[in-house]
Amino acid sequence: MKILVTGGTGYIGSHTCVQLIEKGWQPVIIDSLVNSKISVLERIEKITGTRPAFVEGDVRDADLLQKVLREHAIEAVIHFAGLKAVGESISMPLKYYDNNVHGSVVLMEAMKQCNVKTLVFSSSATVYGDATKMPLKEDAPTSATNPYGQSKLMVEKIIADLCTSNPSWSITALRYFNPVGAHESGLIGEDPQGIPNNLMPFLAQVAVGRREELQVFGNDYQTPDGTGVRDYIHVIDLAQGHLCALAHAHGKAGYHVFNLGTGKGNSVLEMLNAFGKACGKKLKYKIASRRPGDVAASWADPQKAQSVLNWKAEKSMDDMCQDTWHWQSQNPNGYP
Ligand code: NAD
Ligand code: WQD
Repeated sequence: MKILVTGGTGYIGSHTCVQLIEKGWQPVIIDSLVNSKISVLERIEKITGTRPAFVEGDVRDADLLQKVLREHAIEAVIHFAGLKAVGESISMPLKYYDNNVHGSVVLMEAMKQCNVKTLVFSSSATVYGDATKMPLKEDAPTSATNPYGQSKLMVEKIIADLCTSNPSWSITALRYFNPVGAHESGLIGEDPQGIPNNLMPFLAQVAVGRREELQVFGNDYQTPDGTGVRDYIHVIDLAQGHLCALAHAHGKAGYHVFNLGTGKGNSVLEMLNAFGKACGKKLKYKIASRRPGDVAASWADPQKAQSVLNWKAEKSMDDMCQDTWHWQSQNPNGYP
């Protein structure tokens, strides 16, 4: 199967391309490189022996998309391309709606023109807003607390309407919880530009000496140790979820939504300790005030993905920390 992977040089996309190639499927990447480096391609080649086809371009470029879909005889699309910094989305909402919502509409229109009707979309647990009833099932109420989350919710709604309008579409929205970790080779991993927004890359940069200490955003939540609790999922398990979703959806009509999480929550302090164990260092931290917009706790009910997709997260917290450390220690400044 030939699969167009938008955003395929990014963090989750690159790991998914590795798994696609290992399964014998052919990824064709389109990425604008706005948040990734071209050297990712060499790394994918080092791991798999295959360099994926790559087109540098933007998903908002309708003509380019149609050309790529036709020339490569694409059968399905995995749509990772998008911007994901929550704080930036609050200060630059138009940039996020244009990239994430408009970009998705242009992509689906191009797919329609080329009669490619199978799509897997990167959604997020952020669509559960500030829900407090855990674990989160797919039918829990949705809402958004920032423009980034709103953009994911809007695309989910557009997809639902599209599938209602024409039953030949087969679209799966995967709601990721908190992706962390890296490929066990240490050749690919998460490489945020600037100060990391997320916990795990921040911890990794403290461990490697790029940052002085972690600020723990609040220790007065209603959680066992007072710090925020999240459902961290290894990026390799997450990547595997896309293959299962494709295998399930291809040729099967309709709109499908699945959580991809482990079903377990861990606190910030648990993560700090687990990472310290993996890197063999005591990581410095200080308690800071809560980060605006954060919820106390969020974790998935992953049962639907298990029963329908036959997918289950396999990797442990130790795997997540060891693999992140392997990647970060081998690439202290990220990709060349
Ligand atoms: P990433 O930034 O590493 O990857 C996204 C890729 O898309 C980058 O390579 C970037 O250059 C590219 N891109 C962005 N806009 C583009 C455009 N208009 N045209 C072409 N390429 C474009 O992010 P990631 O962590 O791999 O996330 C992938 C997807 O998963 C995103 O849609 C994100 O919103 C979603 N998601 C991520 C997380 C997370 O915590 N990492 C959680 C839930 C959902
Ligand atoms: C995890 C925990 C923080 C950094 C975000 C997006 C979400 C999704 C995944 C894309 C929280 C605490 C963090 C730090 C800390 N992305 N923390 N110090 O907020 O659950 O989710 O990424 O869809 O939309 O909002 O992840 O890794 O930022 O935070 O104490 O320096 O770590 O308060 O409890 P979050 P995160």
